[in-house]
Amino acid sequence: MNTKHNIKITASAPGKLLLLGDHAVVYGRPCLVTAVSTRLEVSIEEKQTPGIEVITPGNGNNVFLQEVLAYASSLWPLPKNFIISTKSPFTGKYGFGSSSAFTVASLKVLSEISHISLTEKELFDHAYKVVLKVQGIGSGFDVASAIYGGTIMYQNKGEVIERISHPPYKLVVGYSGKKANTVEIVKDIAKKKEQYPERLERLFTAIGDIVLQSKQAFREGDYERVGKLMDFNQEYLRDLGVSTEPLETIISAAKQAGAWGAKLSGAGGGDCMIAIVSEDKFESVSTAIANASGEVVPVLPDEEGVRIETTDNLKELFVVVDKDDTVIGSRTRVDCHHDKTLIHRSVGVIIIDDLGRILLQKRSKTKDTRPGYWSTSVGGHVMNGETYRETAKREAKEELNIDIDPIYKTKQVFQYDNEAEMTTIFTAHHNGPFDPNPNEVSDVHFFRQEELQELSKDPSFLLTESARNELHLGGFL
Ligand code: MEV
Repeated sequence: MNTKHNIKITASAPGKLLLLGDHAVVYGRPCLVTAVSTRLEVSIEEKQTPGIEVITPGNGNNVFLQEVLAYASSLWPLPKNFIISTKSPFTGKYGFGSSSAFTVASLKVLSEISHISLTEKELFDHAYKVVLKVQGIGSGFDVASAIYGGTIMYQNKGEVIERISHPPYKLVVGYSGKKANTVEIVKDIAKKKEQYPERLERLFTAIGDIVLQSKQAFREGDYERVGKLMDFNQEYLRDLGVSTEPLETIISAAKQAGAWGAKLSGAGGGDCMIAIVSEDKFESVSTAIANASGEVVPVLPDEEGVRIETTDNLKELFVVVDKDDTVIGSRTRVDCHHDKTLIHRSVGVIIIDDLGRILLQKRSKTKDTRPGYWSTSVGGHVMNGETYRETAKREAKEELNIDIDPIYKTKQVFQYDNEAEMTTIFTAHHNGPFDPNPNEVSDVHFFRQEELQELSKDPSFLLTESARNELHLGGFL
Protein backbone atom coordinates (compact mmCIF):
# COMPACT_ATOMS: atom_id res chain seq x y z
CA MET A 1 0.00 0.00 0.00
CA ASN A 2 2.19 2.82 -1.08
CA THR A 3 -0.33 4.97 -2.91
CA LYS A 4 -0.34 8.28 -1.06
CA HIS A 5 -3.41 10.43 -1.42
CA ASN A 6 -2.89 14.09 -0.68
CA ILE A 7 -6.04 15.42 0.85
CA LYS A 8 -7.40 18.55 -0.84
CA ILE A 9 -10.19 20.67 0.58
CA THR A 10 -11.73 23.77 -0.98
CA ALA A 11 -13.95 26.32 0.72
CA SER A 12 -15.70 29.17 -1.02
CA ALA A 13 -17.30 32.33 0.37
CA PRO A 14 -19.47 34.99 -1.32
CA GLY A 15 -19.00 38.72 -1.66
CA LYS A 16 -21.49 41.19 -0.19
CA LEU A 17 -23.45 44.34 -0.86
CA LEU A 18 -24.67 46.59 1.90
CA LEU A 19 -28.38 47.24 1.24
CA LEU A 20 -29.06 49.78 3.99
CA GLY A 21 -27.34 51.11 7.10
CA ASP A 22 -23.88 52.01 5.75
CA HIS A 23 -21.62 53.83 8.26
CA ALA A 24 -24.32 53.83 10.96
CA VAL A 25 -23.47 50.13 11.48
CA VAL A 26 -19.98 51.14 12.64
CA TYR A 27 -21.69 52.98 15.53
CA GLY A 28 -23.88 50.15 16.78
CA ARG A 29 -26.90 50.64 14.51
CA PRO A 30 -28.30 47.72 12.48
CA CYS A 31 -27.69 47.21 8.77
CA LEU A 32 -29.10 44.95 6.06
CA VAL A 33 -26.60 43.12 3.90
CA THR A 34 -26.93 40.58 1.12
CA ALA A 35 -24.36 38.03 -0.07
CA VAL A 36 -23.69 38.19 -3.83
CA SER A 37 -23.02 35.56 -6.45
CA THR A 38 -19.30 36.28 -6.82
CA ARG A 39 -17.51 33.58 -4.86
CA LEU A 40 -13.89 33.40 -3.82
CA GLU A 41 -12.26 29.97 -3.34
CA VAL A 42 -9.45 28.92 -1.01
CA SER A 43 -7.97 25.41 -1.34
CA ILE A 44 -5.58 23.51 0.87
CA GLU A 45 -3.68 20.49 -0.35
CA GLU A 46 -1.36 18.46 1.82
CA LYS A 47 2.01 17.75 0.26
CA GLN A 48 4.93 15.39 0.91
CA THR A 49 7.68 18.03 0.85
CA PRO A 50 8.22 20.22 3.93
CA GLY A 51 6.81 23.71 4.35
CA ILE A 52 3.88 25.87 3.37
CA GLU A 53 3.52 27.02 -0.22
CA VAL A 54 1.24 29.94 -1.01
CA ILE A 55 -0.34 30.48 -4.43
CA THR A 56 -2.38 33.68 -4.43
CA PRO A 57 -2.63 35.26 -7.88
CA GLY A 58 -1.91 38.99 -7.62
CA ASN A 59 -0.91 38.51 -3.94
CA GLY A 60 -4.04 40.53 -3.13
CA ASN A 61 -4.77 38.92 0.21
CA ASN A 62 -1.29 37.99 1.42
CA VAL A 63 -1.42 40.17 4.55
CA PHE A 64 -4.72 38.56 5.51
CA LEU A 65 -3.33 35.09 4.77
CA GLN A 66 -0.31 35.61 7.04
CA GLU A 67 -2.61 36.78 9.81
CA VAL A 68 -5.06 33.88 9.27
CA LEU A 69 -2.21 31.35 9.45
CA ALA A 70 -0.75 32.89 12.59
CA TYR A 71 -4.17 33.14 14.22
CA ALA A 72 -5.35 29.61 13.32
CA SER A 73 -2.07 28.06 14.48
CA SER A 74 -2.47 29.81 17.84
CA LEU A 75 -5.83 28.04 18.27
CA TRP A 76 -5.14 24.52 16.99
CA PRO A 77 -2.24 22.55 15.47
CA LEU A 78 -2.18 23.00 11.71
CA PRO A 79 -0.77 20.43 9.30
CA LYS A 80 2.92 21.14 8.65
CA ASN A 81 3.19 20.71 4.91
CA PHE A 82 0.60 22.10 2.57
CA ILE A 83 -0.16 24.28 -0.42
CA ILE A 84 -2.73 26.99 0.07
CA SER A 85 -4.14 28.57 -3.07
CA THR A 86 -6.90 30.98 -3.99
CA LYS A 87 -9.13 31.47 -6.99
CA SER A 88 -11.07 34.67 -7.18
CA PRO A 89 -13.29 36.36 -9.72
CA PHE A 90 -13.31 39.44 -7.41
CA THR A 91 -11.25 42.25 -8.77
CA GLY A 92 -11.31 44.00 -5.41
CA LYS A 93 -12.29 47.20 -7.21
CA TYR A 94 -16.07 46.82 -6.75
CA GLY A 95 -15.95 46.78 -2.94
CA PHE A 96 -17.59 43.37 -2.64
CA GLY A 97 -15.57 42.56 0.45
CA SER A 98 -12.95 40.22 -0.98
CA SER A 99 -10.73 40.44 2.13
CA SER A 100 -13.51 39.27 4.44
CA ALA A 101 -14.60 36.52 2.03
CA PHE A 102 -10.95 35.44 1.83
CA THR A 103 -10.49 35.44 5.62
CA VAL A 104 -13.68 33.44 6.12
CA ALA A 105 -12.94 30.87 3.38
CA SER A 106 -9.35 30.34 4.53
CA LEU A 107 -10.29 29.90 8.21
CA LYS A 108 -13.01 27.47 7.12
CA VAL A 109 -10.63 25.38 5.04
CA LEU A 110 -7.94 25.38 7.75
CA SER A 111 -10.44 24.23 10.38
CA GLU A 112 -11.75 21.47 8.07
CA ILE A 113 -8.31 20.08 7.28
CA SER A 114 -7.50 20.07 11.00
CA HIS A 115 -10.84 18.33 11.87
CA ILE A 116 -11.93 21.29 13.99
CA SER A 117 -15.61 21.94 13.85
CA LEU A 118 -16.68 25.56 14.30
CA THR A 119 -20.19 26.93 14.58
CA GLU A 120 -21.10 29.84 12.31
CA LYS A 121 -20.78 32.19 15.29
CA GLU A 122 -17.36 30.81 16.30
CA LEU A 123 -16.14 31.19 12.73
CA PHE A 124 -17.49 34.76 12.76
CA ASP A 125 -15.71 35.65 16.01
CA HIS A 126 -12.39 34.27 14.73
CA ALA A 127 -12.64 35.83 11.25
CA TYR A 128 -13.72 39.22 12.61
CA LYS A 129 -10.70 39.26 14.96
CA VAL A 130 -8.38 38.62 12.01
CA VAL A 131 -10.00 41.35 9.90
CA LEU A 132 -9.77 43.86 12.77
CA LYS A 133 -6.14 42.94 13.37
CA VAL A 134 -5.25 43.72 9.75
CA GLN A 135 -7.60 46.66 9.06
CA GLY A 136 -7.91 48.05 12.58
CA ILE A 137 -11.46 49.16 11.80
CA GLY A 138 -14.78 47.87 10.42
CA SER A 139 -18.17 46.81 11.73
CA GLY A 140 -17.79 43.15 10.69
CA PHE A 141 -21.04 42.99 8.68
CA ASP A 142 -19.08 41.77 5.63
CA VAL A 143 -17.57 38.89 7.64
CA ALA A 144 -21.06 37.85 8.81
CA SER A 145 -22.40 38.04 5.27
CA ALA A 146 -19.61 35.78 3.94
CA ILE A 147 -20.51 33.20 6.61
CA TYR A 148 -24.30 33.33 6.83
CA GLY A 149 -25.07 34.26 3.21
CA GLY A 150 -28.59 35.22 2.12
CA THR A 151 -29.87 38.59 3.34
CA ILE A 152 -29.24 39.32 7.01
CA MET A 153 -29.72 42.05 9.57
CA TYR A 154 -26.45 42.67 11.40
CA GLN A 155 -25.69 44.82 14.45
CA ASN A 156 -23.15 45.55 17.12
CA LYS A 157 -20.05 43.48 16.28
CA GLY A 158 -22.17 40.40 15.60
CA GLU A 159 -24.42 40.57 18.68
CA VAL A 160 -27.35 40.48 16.26
CA ILE A 161 -27.12 38.34 13.14
CA GLU A 162 -30.60 37.59 11.88
CA ARG A 163 -31.55 35.86 8.66
CA ILE A 164 -34.35 37.71 6.89
CA SER A 165 -36.80 35.54 4.99
CA HIS A 166 -38.36 37.30 2.03
CA PRO A 167 -39.59 36.69 -1.52
CA PRO A 168 -36.97 37.01 -4.31
CA TYR A 169 -36.03 40.52 -5.33
CA LYS A 170 -34.01 42.12 -8.13
CA LEU A 171 -31.05 44.44 -7.75
CA VAL A 172 -29.14 46.31 -10.41
CA VAL A 173 -25.57 47.05 -9.37
CA GLY A 174 -23.62 49.87 -11.01
CA TYR A 175 -19.92 50.60 -10.52
CA SER A 176 -19.14 54.31 -10.40
CA GLY A 177 -15.73 53.96 -12.03
CA LYS A 178 -13.68 54.78 -8.94
CA LYS A 179 -12.30 52.44 -6.30
CA ALA A 180 -13.06 53.73 -2.81
CA ASN A 181 -10.66 53.64 0.11
CA THR A 182 -13.06 52.31 2.76
CA VAL A 183 -10.65 52.47 5.69
CA GLU A 184 -9.78 56.13 4.99
CA ILE A 185 -13.44 57.12 4.60
CA VAL A 186 -14.45 55.35 7.82
CA LYS A 187 -11.63 57.20 9.61
CA ASP A 188 -12.83 60.54 8.14
CA ILE A 189 -16.33 59.89 9.45
CA ALA A 190 -14.87 59.08 12.88
CA LYS A 191 -13.14 62.48 12.86
CA LYS A 192 -16.37 64.19 11.82
CA LYS A 193 -18.11 62.43 14.66
CA GLU A 194 -15.60 63.87 17.12
CA GLN A 195 -16.32 67.35 15.77
CA TYR A 196 -20.12 67.08 15.61
CA PRO A 197 -21.05 64.20 17.91
CA GLU A 198 -24.74 65.05 18.38
CA ARG A 199 -25.45 65.72 14.75
CA LEU A 200 -23.87 62.44 13.65
CA GLU A 201 -25.55 60.44 16.41
CA ARG A 202 -28.93 61.81 15.22
CA LEU A 203 -28.10 60.90 11.67
CA PHE A 204 -27.04 57.35 12.56
CA THR A 205 -30.16 56.83 14.66
CA ALA A 206 -32.31 57.95 11.72
CA ILE A 207 -30.47 55.48 9.43
CA GLY A 208 -30.95 52.71 12.04
CA ASP A 209 -34.71 53.39 12.03
CA ILE A 210 -34.79 53.13 8.25
CA VAL A 211 -33.06 49.76 8.48
CA LEU A 212 -35.66 48.42 10.92
CA GLN A 213 -38.50 49.59 8.69
CA SER A 214 -36.79 48.05 5.66
CA LYS A 215 -36.43 44.73 7.45
CA GLN A 216 -40.21 44.63 7.86
CA ALA A 217 -40.78 45.67 4.24
CA PHE A 218 -38.40 42.90 3.05
CA ARG A 219 -40.30 40.33 5.08
CA GLU A 220 -43.57 41.49 3.47
CA GLY A 221 -41.99 41.56 0.00
CA ASP A 222 -42.96 45.25 -0.24
CA TYR A 223 -40.03 46.27 -2.39
CA GLU A 224 -41.58 49.52 -3.51
CA ARG A 225 -41.36 50.59 0.14
CA VAL A 226 -37.80 49.24 0.42
CA GLY A 227 -37.01 51.47 -2.59
CA LYS A 228 -38.39 54.56 -0.84
CA LEU A 229 -36.42 53.74 2.29
CA MET A 230 -33.25 53.32 0.21
CA ASP A 231 -33.84 56.81 -1.20
CA PHE A 232 -34.13 58.22 2.34
CA ASN A 233 -30.98 56.36 3.33
CA GLN A 234 -29.17 57.91 0.35
CA GLU A 235 -30.20 61.40 1.49
CA TYR A 236 -28.54 60.79 4.85
CA LEU A 237 -25.41 59.43 3.18
CA ARG A 238 -25.31 62.59 1.05
CA ASP A 239 -25.56 64.63 4.29
CA LEU A 240 -22.65 62.66 5.67
CA GLY A 241 -20.66 63.77 2.66
CA VAL A 242 -19.75 60.32 1.32
CA SER A 243 -21.62 60.42 -1.99
CA THR A 244 -19.81 61.49 -5.16
CA GLU A 245 -20.85 63.05 -8.44
CA PRO A 246 -20.47 59.86 -10.54
CA LEU A 247 -22.49 57.94 -7.90
CA GLU A 248 -25.22 60.62 -7.91
CA THR A 249 -25.35 60.56 -11.73
CA ILE A 250 -25.98 56.81 -11.96
CA ILE A 251 -28.33 56.82 -8.97
CA SER A 252 -30.52 59.45 -10.58
CA ALA A 253 -30.33 57.67 -13.98
CA ALA A 254 -31.61 54.50 -12.29
CA LYS A 255 -34.42 56.42 -10.60
CA GLN A 256 -35.46 58.13 -13.84
CA ALA A 257 -35.57 54.74 -15.58
CA GLY A 258 -38.13 53.53 -13.02
CA ALA A 259 -36.13 51.94 -10.16
CA TRP A 260 -38.12 51.76 -6.92
CA GLY A 261 -35.12 53.20 -5.10
CA ALA A 262 -31.35 53.57 -5.37
CA LYS A 263 -28.40 54.41 -3.15
CA LEU A 264 -24.68 54.00 -2.83
CA SER A 265 -23.56 50.77 -1.19
CA GLY A 266 -20.66 50.66 1.28
CA ALA A 267 -18.41 53.47 2.38
CA GLY A 268 -19.13 55.80 -0.54
CA GLY A 269 -16.42 57.89 -2.18
CA GLY A 270 -16.74 55.56 -5.20
CA ASP A 271 -17.37 51.82 -5.59
CA CYS A 272 -20.94 50.73 -6.38
CA MET A 273 -24.53 51.88 -6.20
CA ILE A 274 -27.52 49.57 -6.04
CA ALA A 275 -31.04 49.97 -7.33
CA ILE A 276 -34.00 47.81 -6.32
CA VAL A 277 -36.26 47.23 -9.31
CA SER A 278 -39.33 45.35 -10.49
CA GLU A 279 -38.71 42.49 -12.94
CA ASP A 280 -39.94 44.54 -15.92
CA LYS A 281 -37.65 47.51 -15.17
CA PHE A 282 -34.46 45.46 -14.85
CA GLU A 283 -33.34 45.99 -18.47
CA SER A 284 -34.26 49.68 -18.71
CA VAL A 285 -32.56 50.53 -15.39
CA SER A 286 -29.43 48.59 -16.43
CA THR A 287 -29.31 50.44 -19.76
CA ALA A 288 -29.81 53.80 -18.05
CA ILE A 289 -26.89 53.13 -15.68
CA ALA A 290 -24.64 52.11 -18.58
CA ASN A 291 -25.67 55.23 -20.58
CA ALA A 292 -24.76 57.39 -17.57
CA SER A 293 -21.19 55.95 -17.68
CA GLY A 294 -21.79 53.39 -14.93
CA GLU A 295 -20.56 49.82 -15.31
CA VAL A 296 -23.37 47.34 -14.67
CA VAL A 297 -21.99 44.50 -12.56
CA PRO A 298 -23.92 41.26 -13.15
CA VAL A 299 -24.34 39.81 -9.64
CA LEU A 300 -27.36 38.28 -7.93
CA PRO A 301 -28.32 38.84 -4.29
CA ASP A 302 -28.97 36.16 -1.65
CA GLU A 303 -26.03 33.88 -2.39
CA GLU A 304 -25.25 30.94 -0.07
CA GLY A 305 -22.71 31.61 2.71
CA VAL A 306 -19.33 29.91 3.13
CA ARG A 307 -19.29 26.25 2.12
CA ILE A 308 -16.95 23.36 1.54
CA GLU A 309 -16.90 22.55 -2.18
CA THR A 310 -17.41 18.95 -3.16
CA THR A 311 -14.47 16.99 -4.54
CA ASP A 312 -16.86 14.96 -6.67
CA ASN A 313 -16.78 15.76 -10.35
CA LEU A 314 -20.34 16.83 -11.04
CA LYS A 315 -19.87 16.39 -14.80
CA GLU A 316 -19.01 12.64 -14.64
CA LEU A 317 -21.37 10.57 -16.80
CA PHE A 318 -23.47 7.86 -15.13
CA VAL A 319 -25.22 4.99 -16.93
CA VAL A 320 -29.00 5.50 -17.07
CA VAL A 321 -31.26 2.43 -17.38
CA ASP A 322 -34.96 1.48 -17.44
CA LYS A 323 -36.60 -0.52 -14.65
CA ASP A 324 -35.36 -3.80 -16.26
CA ASP A 325 -31.76 -2.51 -16.23
CA THR A 326 -31.58 -2.02 -20.00
CA VAL A 327 -29.21 0.86 -20.80
CA ILE A 328 -31.00 3.89 -22.25
CA GLY A 329 -28.23 6.49 -22.11
CA SER A 330 -25.89 8.42 -19.86
CA ARG A 331 -26.34 11.61 -17.81
CA THR A 332 -24.17 13.75 -15.53
CA ARG A 333 -23.85 13.14 -11.79
CA VAL A 334 -25.65 16.38 -11.01
CA ASP A 335 -28.61 15.51 -13.31
CA CYS A 336 -28.88 11.99 -11.87
CA HIS A 337 -28.85 13.29 -8.30
CA HIS A 338 -31.72 15.70 -8.92
CA ASP A 339 -34.12 13.69 -11.08
CA LYS A 340 -35.98 10.66 -9.78
CA THR A 341 -36.86 9.49 -13.29
CA LEU A 342 -33.18 8.93 -14.19
CA ILE A 343 -32.53 5.44 -12.81
CA HIS A 344 -28.75 5.12 -12.78
CA ARG A 345 -26.51 2.17 -12.06
CA SER A 346 -24.64 1.90 -8.78
CA VAL A 347 -22.85 -0.76 -6.74
CA GLY A 348 -22.64 -1.52 -3.04
CA VAL A 349 -19.87 -3.83 -1.85
CA ILE A 350 -20.06 -5.38 1.60
CA ILE A 351 -16.61 -6.41 2.80
CA ILE A 352 -16.43 -9.19 5.39
CA ASP A 353 -13.36 -10.30 7.35
CA ASP A 354 -12.30 -13.73 8.67
CA LEU A 355 -14.34 -13.15 11.82
CA GLY A 356 -17.50 -12.47 9.78
CA ARG A 357 -17.46 -8.79 10.72
CA ILE A 358 -18.83 -6.18 8.30
CA LEU A 359 -16.77 -3.21 7.20
CA LEU A 360 -18.43 0.21 6.97
CA GLN A 361 -16.87 3.41 5.71
CA LYS A 362 -17.56 6.93 6.90
CA ARG A 363 -18.08 9.31 3.97
CA SER A 364 -15.73 12.29 3.85
CA LYS A 365 -17.05 15.77 4.54
CA THR A 366 -16.51 16.76 0.93
CA LYS A 367 -18.90 14.24 -0.66
CA ASP A 368 -21.75 15.85 -2.60
CA THR A 369 -24.37 13.71 -0.84
CA ARG A 370 -24.51 12.55 2.81
CA PRO A 371 -21.11 13.86 3.93
CA GLY A 372 -20.04 12.40 7.32
CA TYR A 373 -22.47 9.44 7.15
CA TRP A 374 -21.55 5.77 7.61
CA SER A 375 -22.02 3.84 4.40
CA THR A 376 -21.48 0.40 2.82
CA SER A 377 -17.79 -0.73 2.75
CA VAL A 378 -17.37 0.40 -0.85
CA GLY A 379 -19.87 2.04 -3.16
CA GLY A 380 -20.13 4.07 -6.29
CA HIS A 381 -21.74 4.79 -9.57
CA VAL A 382 -21.27 2.85 -12.77
CA MET A 383 -19.54 5.06 -15.31
CA ASN A 384 -20.25 5.09 -18.99
CA GLY A 385 -18.66 1.98 -20.57
CA GLU A 386 -18.19 0.07 -17.28
CA THR A 387 -19.78 -3.15 -15.96
CA TYR A 388 -21.08 -3.41 -12.40
CA ARG A 389 -18.19 -5.73 -11.52
CA GLU A 390 -15.58 -3.37 -12.95
CA THR A 391 -17.11 -0.53 -10.93
CA ALA A 392 -16.93 -2.57 -7.71
CA LYS A 393 -13.23 -3.34 -8.29
CA ARG A 394 -12.40 0.24 -9.31
CA GLU A 395 -14.20 1.79 -6.34
CA ALA A 396 -12.49 -0.61 -3.89
CA LYS A 397 -9.14 0.49 -5.28
CA GLU A 398 -10.04 4.20 -5.30
CA GLU A 399 -11.69 4.35 -1.90
CA LEU A 400 -9.69 1.83 0.20
CA ASN A 401 -6.72 1.01 -2.05
CA ILE A 402 -7.47 -2.73 -2.03
CA ASP A 403 -7.93 -5.37 -4.73
CA ILE A 404 -11.11 -7.41 -4.35
CA ASP A 405 -12.86 -10.28 -6.04
CA PRO A 406 -16.53 -9.23 -5.84
CA ILE A 407 -19.22 -11.92 -5.47
CA TYR A 408 -22.62 -10.99 -6.95
CA LYS A 409 -25.50 -11.13 -4.44
CA THR A 410 -28.51 -9.37 -5.92
CA LYS A 411 -29.80 -6.29 -7.75
CA GLN A 412 -32.70 -3.90 -7.13
CA VAL A 413 -34.04 -0.41 -7.93
CA PHE A 414 -34.05 1.92 -4.92
CA GLN A 415 -36.11 5.12 -4.91
CA TYR A 416 -34.80 7.98 -2.79
CA ASP A 417 -36.06 11.53 -2.19
CA ASN A 418 -33.99 13.02 -4.97
CA GLU A 419 -32.87 10.08 -7.11
CA ALA A 420 -33.40 6.47 -8.21
CA GLU A 421 -30.61 3.88 -8.34
CA MET A 422 -30.33 0.40 -9.86
CA THR A 423 -28.01 -1.05 -7.24
CA THR A 424 -26.06 -4.28 -7.58
CA ILE A 425 -24.85 -5.68 -4.31
CA PHE A 426 -21.62 -7.63 -4.03
CA THR A 427 -19.81 -9.12 -1.08
CA ALA A 428 -16.04 -9.46 -0.91
CA HIS A 429 -13.59 -10.94 1.55
CA HIS A 430 -10.79 -8.81 3.03
CA ASN A 431 -9.04 -8.41 6.38
CA GLY A 432 -7.36 -5.09 5.63
CA PRO A 433 -5.28 -3.12 6.22
CA PHE A 434 -7.05 -0.38 4.32
CA ASP A 435 -5.63 2.85 3.01
CA PRO A 436 -8.71 5.08 2.73
CA ASN A 437 -8.62 7.97 0.28
CA PRO A 438 -9.38 10.96 2.55
CA ASN A 439 -11.17 12.81 -0.25
CA GLU A 440 -13.73 10.00 -0.24
CA VAL A 441 -13.56 8.28 3.14
CA SER A 442 -12.80 9.72 6.57
CA ASP A 443 -12.84 6.42 8.53
CA VAL A 444 -13.42 2.64 8.23
CA HIS A 445 -14.50 0.20 10.90
CA PHE A 446 -15.41 -3.50 11.20
CA PHE A 447 -18.72 -4.12 13.04
CA ARG A 448 -20.10 -7.39 14.37
CA GLN A 449 -23.49 -8.13 12.81
CA GLU A 450 -25.39 -7.87 16.16
CA GLU A 451 -23.60 -4.60 16.93
CA LEU A 452 -24.63 -3.17 13.54
CA GLN A 453 -28.21 -4.28 14.05
CA GLU A 454 -28.30 -2.39 17.37
CA LEU A 455 -26.59 0.72 15.99
CA SER A 456 -28.92 0.85 13.01
CA LYS A 457 -31.79 1.50 15.44
CA ASP A 458 -29.96 4.40 17.10
CA PRO A 459 -30.94 7.71 15.40
CA SER A 460 -27.64 9.31 16.40
CA PHE A 461 -25.74 6.73 14.32
CA LEU A 462 -25.74 8.36 10.89
CA LEU A 463 -26.16 5.55 8.37
CA THR A 464 -27.03 6.38 4.76
CA GLU A 465 -30.40 5.23 3.55
CA SER A 466 -28.72 3.33 0.71
CA ALA A 467 -26.39 1.48 3.13
CA ARG A 468 -29.40 0.55 5.22
CA ASN A 469 -31.17 -0.78 2.10
CA GLU A 470 -28.13 -2.64 0.82
CA LEU A 471 -27.27 -4.24 4.17
CA HIS A 472 -30.87 -5.25 4.53
CA LEU A 473 -31.07 -6.73 1.05
CA GLY A 474 -27.76 -8.52 1.57
CA GLY A 475 -29.21 -10.14 4.72
CA PHE A 476 -26.96 -8.29 7.20
CA LEU A 477 -29.60 -6.10 8.86
C1 MEV B 1 -18.15 49.74 4.14
O1 MEV B 1 -18.37 48.72 3.19
C2 MEV B 1 -19.32 49.90 5.06
C3 MEV B 1 -19.11 50.81 6.24
O2 MEV B 1 -20.33 50.82 6.99
C4 MEV B 1 -17.95 50.37 7.09
C5 MEV B 1 -18.21 49.14 7.95
O3 MEV B 1 -19.35 48.81 8.22
O4 MEV B 1 -17.23 48.49 8.34
C6 MEV B 1 -18.87 52.21 5.76
